[in-house]
Amino acid sequence: MIFPFGTTHIKNPFVLAPMAGCTDLPFRLLCREHGAALCYSEMIDCHGLVSQEQECLDLLLTNAAEQPVIMQLYGNDPFMMGEAAAILSEQPIAGIDINMGCPMEKIVQTGAGAALMKNPRLAEKIITSVCNTSTKPVTVKIRTGWNQHTITAPEISKIAEGAGAQAIAIHGRTWTDGFTGPIDHAVIVQTMKSVAIPVFANGDITSHEEGLALLRKIGCAGVMIGRAALGAPWIFSGGVNQQPSMAYRIKTLLRHLELAETHLVPEPSLSKIRNHAWKYFRGTTNGPAIRKQIDATTTYPELRDFIHTLAERVFQQ
Ligand SMILES: Cc1cc2nc3c(=O)[nH]c(=O)nc-3n(C[C@H](O)[C@H](O)[C@H](O)COP(=O)(O)O)c2cc1C
Repeated sequence: MIFPFGTTHIKNPFVLAPMAGCTDLPFRLLCREHGAALCYSEMIDCHGLVSQEQECLDLLLTNAAEQPVIMQLYGNDPFMMGEAAAILSEQPIAGIDINMGCPMEKIVQTGAGAALMKNPRLAEKIITSVCNTSTKPVTVKIRTGWNQHTITAPEISKIAEGAGAQAIAIHGRTWTDGFTGPIDHAVIVQTMKSVAIPVFANGDITSHEEGLALLRKIGCAGVMIGRAALGAPWIFSGGVNQQPSMAYRIKTLLRHLELAETHLVPEPSLSKIRNHAWKYFRGTTNGPAIRKQIDATTTYPELRDFIHTLAERVFQQ
């Protein structure tokens, strides 16, 4: 499926979900190399961006090779969200997303993230403000609602479309569901029917095949994959490597390290990369032993050396 998004054409329906602490430039580049059509950044605090906090500025790292990328903002203040969107608009990116799905207590307590699912009026003000100041296409990432009694996704999507949003991504759970329980495909379909803009379905897609099956079943414009892409970027490409060998896993991890070393200076953060590295061995026979050794590393060079030694051993077999 190919559809236009602003001046960008999205070449296939597989999209990388925004994940704080995970979807930085190196991982997004890796997912693009493996076929993701569009990647979302980690969420960026609108206040931090406007006040130029280094932590937020670091999240703006992007390059031409990863395009199209969408950078995500979160916040509860329409004016500040608009200001932050104006700053993001100056970046060489394909679009700006508004986070209306984050369940974290410290975020929802402020009225931001998933709390906006129970406050359509504030949601409208924020989306309108971002659309007014952004020169890039705007998307909105939502949940099905706040809880089972407050299913607002169709209403809020309509509001978003009316305010100028160009796509919706919907995680098929409410805030109270967190990350567990079944995905509510019925509400995703209701949401699709309530708008004419593209809708990306999200939640618990664990393989390329499942993504294709969902596209066939509900006819959404795209499928957005989060956790299942961690340590498994090949999920975006389909084809032969869906049950990869240990050698292929390590080759992909080495490429991940290479991208991280190229783009994260002075060097990648140990805890972040260790987290990623762990996931490449999910479900493998030697996984537990390898993970123990990954955990034992205390610096990034130590971790890198361990992975290279592992690669030499495995590639010789
Ligand atoms: C570690 C982690 C970080 C996340 N960070 C964000 C975020 O920054 N913004 C956002 O909208 N959603 C975030 N999410 C939610 C995901 O984008 C996605 O909606 C959710 O994980 C369900 O999709 P999945 O089952 O494919 O993982 C995060 C999820 C995880 C696991």
